[in-house]
Parts: sequence; C-alpha cells; structure tokens
Amino acid sequence: MKIAEIKSRLRGDVGREIFFYDTVGSTNAVASEIAAKTVEGAVVLADTQSKGKGRLGRVWVSPPGVNIYMSIILRPDIRPRYATLITIMSSVACATALRKVTGLNVTIKWPNDLIIQKKKLCGILTELKTERNKIIFAVAGIGINVNADIDEFSEDVKSIATSLKNETGIVYSRTEIVAETLNEIDRWYKTLKVMDRDTLLSEWKRLSSTLGREVMVVTGQGTLTGLALDLDSEGMLMIKLTSGEVKRISSGDVTIVR
Ligand code: BTN
Repeated sequence: MKIAEIKSRLRGDVGREIFFYDTVGSTNAVASEIAAKTVEGAVVLADTQSKGKGRLGRVWVSPPGVNIYMSIILRPDIRPRYATLITIMSSVACATALRKVTGLNVTIKWPNDLIIQKKKLCGILTELKTERNKIIFAVAGIGINVNADIDEFSEDVKSIATSLKNETGIVYSRTEIVAETLNEIDRWYKTLKVMDRDTLLSEWKRLSSTLGREVMVVTGQGTLTGLALDLDSEGMLMIKLTSGEVKRISSGDVTIVR
C-alpha cells in the first residue's frame, strides 16, 4: 500500500492523517488508544493484524499482503442511541466505493456485512467511547477481503467468505480501494453529521439485500424468523414475524432464508 498515493487521491479531510503499520494486534485497538491525541478523520491502517476483532467476540482473519484493515476515528455530535447509524454510514460508504472500483454487485446485509451473492466480503466493527450520554469518539473498523485466496482459509470461513479476487480473478490495488473508501466515508460522514437520516437510510435501503427478504435472525434473546420490513430511524431492523407481530432488532446475525 502506498500511503503518499492514497493521500494524493483524497478529496476530503478523512484520511489526511494516516498511521500505517506492517503489523498490529487490531487497528481498532490502536485507534482507540490514539483517539484522544489525534484529529477527527485520522486513520489507522495495517498490512496484517495478529488479533483482528470481529463482531460478537469473533476473530477477523487478517493475512498479510492481500487485504485491507483500517480504522477511522470519528467524533460525531450525536447521541449514543444513534450509534448504529455510524455502522450504517460506513457500510454505505464501503459498498459505494467497492462498486465504483470493481463494478461488482456489492450489497449490504444488516447491520454491517458487505456481501456478494451470499458471501461476505467486508465486515465493519464500530466501537464507541461514551460518557454521560455523549459519544467521546467512535472507531469505525473496516476489514475488506481484497486479494486473499479464500481457498487458503479454514473450511468454516471458506463456506461464508469471499474476496474481490476470488470473485473476478483480478488482483486489485489496495491503494485505490483505501483511497476511494476514505473519500466515500468523507462524503457520507458529512450526511451523518448533519443528521440527514433520510438521505443516509434511503441509500442504505437501495444498497441492501436484506429488506423484503425472509430472514432468520439470531439475537442474544433467541432466534426469530420473519420478513425484513424496514430500518427504523435509528438503523434498527424491523421484522414482521409469522404471527404478524413487528419486532425491532438492535443487534444480531441475519441469514437470508429466501
Ligand atoms: C465483523 O463482521 O465481524 C466485523 C469485522 C471487522 C474487522 C475490521 S479489520 C479492521 C478493524 N480492526 C479490527 O480488529 N477489526 C476491524
């Protein structure tokens, strides 16, 4: 990855400060450590992670030389209850950037997965520091499988994951993808900052492959199945159960049934 070239391609403030590491434990952890000392829009980028974190305590497989692992430090002046919108914003930005660079039909599976067909290409882990109902900072952590050979992953990862190269056989420029993603974050973060939720949520809905589908959601409280109806104004998923009851879900793992 060429940091000077990434910077030369930037159109906004996000990414003006980039901290690049060959190896880190987790870019999210480094970003949280330095957040108080750096500017908003600063980025921690690494070639590989030894303790890549996924959602729900999972591991994010982070081989060197092939993928993108980065975390962006943000300080949105919004209430913590709207924090899901940071993930929504990041997924819209990443999906838009990946579509632009590759032309692939990248879609969003609620809340934070970018997929091609049914396989996961990119995951987003947003972490927050809050105090007295205020967000002190947010770290939007983005992992994109770019040129990884999925055949080299373990069987359980192989069955659910893909990479850009795995889809097309093309080796993509990580430099270009990082720059384009940061440009889209810059654009969509502006929309979030002014709380233009209509624009943000309607773009998410346009890129979503979740709404209108029969889904199964595994939550901390159990498993639900039903029709994914809509997102509410906080980015929660509304599901119509077979009983007709509508439930609002704040976190969980979605499987598209049909
Ligand atoms: C998920 O889908 O479970 C979220 C995966 C998030 C992975 C990224 S890679 C960069 C950043 N640093 C981490 O440790 N995790 C996120």
